[in-house]
Amino acid sequence: MYLQRRNRILRQSPSIRSMVAETTLTPNDFIAPLFIDEGKNVAFEIPSMPGYYRYSIDGTIKEIKELWSLGIKSVLLFIKAPDELKDNTGKEAWNDNGLMQRSIKAIKDAVPEMVVMTDVALDPYSSYGHDGIVENGEIVNDPTVEALVKMSLSHAKAGADFVAPSDMMDGRIGAIREALEQNNFTRTGIMAYSAKYASCFYGPFRDALDSAPGFGDKKTYQMDYANRIEAIKEAIIDEEEGADIIMVKPAMAYLDIIREVKDSVTLPVSAYHVSGEYAMIKAAAKMGWLNEDKAVIECLTSIKRAGADLIATYFAKDAVKLL
Ligand code: PBG
Repeated sequence: MYLQRRNRILRQSPSIRSMVAETTLTPNDFIAPLFIDEGKNVAFEIPSMPGYYRYSIDGTIKEIKELWSLGIKSVLLFIKAPDELKDNTGKEAWNDNGLMQRSIKAIKDAVPEMVVMTDVALDPYSSYGHDGIVENGEIVNDPTVEALVKMSLSHAKAGADFVAPSDMMDGRIGAIREALEQNNFTRTGIMAYSAKYASCFYGPFRDALDSAPGFGDKKTYQMDYANRIEAIKEAIIDEEEGADIIMVKPAMAYLDIIREVKDSVTLPVSAYHVSGEYAMIKAAAKMGWLNEDKAVIECLTSIKRAGADLIATYFAKDAVKLL
């Protein structure tokens, strides 16, 4: 054969392949989610997330130092509130001496350069396990936004670099931005979960924080996975309202959405490789059906290739060690 084009030339050796690779993972790509509990010396392995732990603040600090030494520069914090602090107002969320606020301060004291991002939603504090305030069986938007504003200000005051509203209420990005401005938090960023889908892949996370909804589901606020254009609408509105980073969540089943959102906004885009995605790889690897390390790098590379500038993933530490 006399071929004009031989595409395999660029695939023939590891050196050539690495020269022409279009996507390369680096430690800068990752945000490590952390689950934090009250107490001391707590290291609770989440049953549906083997190898992933919920630590008390002391263990969290150890973890932070290790992440930093590996080159991971940002963490996303989630706390587990005890049942007695849960109610329908979620008021523990803006207790300036709450677990989240103490965790932020402790991390900033230990490793000041670590970028601390905090989850903003009422579910860990809600007696109903919903992301907002419940009235007559409905998750009410505007009173919830008021609560989220108080929560965000309290995180900013404690030293959070970014607040990350994951609640999917309407108008919360604008309201939080305005409140940050009014209170002189002009360096606090907002990472908006703009396209957050009502997904079955959050199951293990709800085990980790004991935050499963007590009734119904989250479909009146999180997005329908049948929809694509709606994700672009959400992202554009959040950009207009003052978000600094736009997030798509989950990641693997939503690579098309990551790409379209990336092409529709001028902000960095992050994608959340969620708990169920972690659990799937772990489970298949445990059965001997997948090579875990290869699956992790392939998935994370695909998420970046789809357009994610940042990836929140429970594999952050493992991935950096594999690079
Ligand atoms: C809470 C929140 C959830 C996740 C992040 N923030 C759960 C939910 O919306 O029910 C899921 C993360 C994961 O599954 O890894 N607002």
